Amino acid sequence: MRLQATWLGALVVLPQALASLPMFYSESANPYRNDEPNVKVETLYQFPENESWVDNIVLRPDGNLLLTRLDAPEVWLVDTTSGNATLAHSFANATSCFGIAEIDDDVFAVVVGNFSTKTYAPTPGSFSVQKLDFKKINASSDERVLSAAAVSHIAALPEAQALNGMTSFTKDSHLVLIADSPKGAVWKVNTETGEYAVALNDTTMMPAKGQALPLGINGLKLVDGYVYYSSTTRMEFCRVKVNEEAKAVGDYEVIASGFLPDNMDVAPDGTAYIATDPQNSVVRVTPYGQISLVAGGQLSTEMPGPTSCRLTEDRKTLYVGTSGGQVAPVAGTFMEPGKVVKITML
Ligand SMILES: *[C@@H]1O[C@H](CO)[C@@H](O)[C@H](O)[C@H]1NC(C)=O
Ligand SMILES: *[C@@H]1O[C@H](CO)[C@@H](O)[C@H](O)[C@H]1NC(C)=O
Ligand SMILES: *[C@@H]1O[C@H](CO)[C@@H](O)[C@H](O)[C@H]1NC(C)=O
Ligand SMILES: *[C@@H]1O[C@H](CO)[C@@H](O)[C@H](O)[C@H]1NC(C)=O
Ligand SMILES: *[C@@H]1O[C@H](CO)[C@@H](O)[C@H](O)[C@H]1NC(C)=O
Ligand SMILES: *[C@@H]1O[C@H](CO)[C@@H](O)[C@H](O)[C@H]1NC(C)=O
Repeated sequence: MRLQATWLGALVVLPQALASLPMFYSESANPYRNDEPNVKVETLYQFPENESWVDNIVLRPDGNLLLTRLDAPEVWLVDTTSGNATLAHSFANATSCFGIAEIDDDVFAVVVGNFSTKTYAPTPGSFSVQKLDFKKINASSDERVLSAAAVSHIAALPEAQALNGMTSFTKDSHLVLIADSPKGAVWKVNTETGEYAVALNDTTMMPAKGQALPLGINGLKLVDGYVYYSSTTRMEFCRVKVNEEAKAVGDYEVIASGFLPDNMDVAPDGTAYIATDPQNSVVRVTPYGQISLVAGGQLSTEMPGPTSCRLTEDRKTLYVGTSGGQVAPVAGTFMEPGKVVKITML
């Protein structure tokens, strides 16, 4: 409950944060209006249960989605044509799944660990990285749930405080980078050998001072030699240039600030699409830090509690995962089951 209050504490700063997003308040000249994409918003799939919480989503090579759940140790497949969803795998001995990233053609690494969606308390020492090999799905038997042979252990990270978002590094390096939100650091894990180490740490990744919820760096993505990352309680979206060992070789730069960023996707040109969880919207941030609203809004029930975004390669479709507003119900009251939203850029 104390942590819930903290989230509300975070919300108290919202009017100030929103003041930096002119489209929310400005009734006269809106410098972003001409820039706002014209979009169609639809629900692709919604879970039946109210506590369902989509944490992360990723695209498979065939264009379908995988999603991780925070309220269950599960990875689901979502058919982007039919909207049908099926359980792909449920991990034993854990409560939650977090970041997910493709590490080889149709092979994915997933962060698994223990976390309470009621108290927001992670269990330090419970976090590991697991492998799901979708090439081992038996298509001839119309198999959906992965067989035991398709699931394997990559590494346990007992020193991690709470692993969260994940991005794959360069293919030849076999590395993934994983955000540790309370620690304010990024781990690199070799998915072949299981070796791991802290690769990046900076004050921009640390939880903001005075927030009881220790949620610093949250989502991250490698694009063109830069690691882009969201830092939630600091309300910052940042990047840092890295070398082939994922060590920082440039300054830690703040690109945009003043909103509550959760996970995001970043296009090859550096344009980011960021889920703003308790702000119930997805915003687009240009490489120069200009912010515009893509869909949703503080008081909109279009996408309560958006947690994650995935842009298709043609950049015409953006998929968004939600928690149904569990962190902060819309207008203080509205919650619904978690879902996947399809945003078509018209
Ligand atoms: C989910 O919770 C809301 C608000 O508490 C309630 O109105 C709704 O009926 C619930 N839906 C389901 C599917 O349980
Ligand atoms: C969706 O899944 C259900 C249950 O497995 C199946 O009966 C139905 O045919 C599927 N629909 C499509 C469009 O694939
Ligand atoms: C479950 O996790 C606990 C704590 O990490 C460990 O001690 C135990 O061996 C695990 N059990 C199984 C069946 O993996
Ligand atoms: C994680 O949660 C599972 C399922 O509740 C439990 O069996 C396991 O012991 C927990 N692990 C740790 C390290 O607490
Ligand atoms: C795939 O499924 C088919 C039909 O159920 C079965 O005959 C075949 O042995 C399965 N192949 C593998 C590799 O499991
Ligand atoms: C980063 O890690 C180094 C080595 O552990 C430590 O000395 C430094 O204080 C850390 N920096 C931050 C900002 O946490």
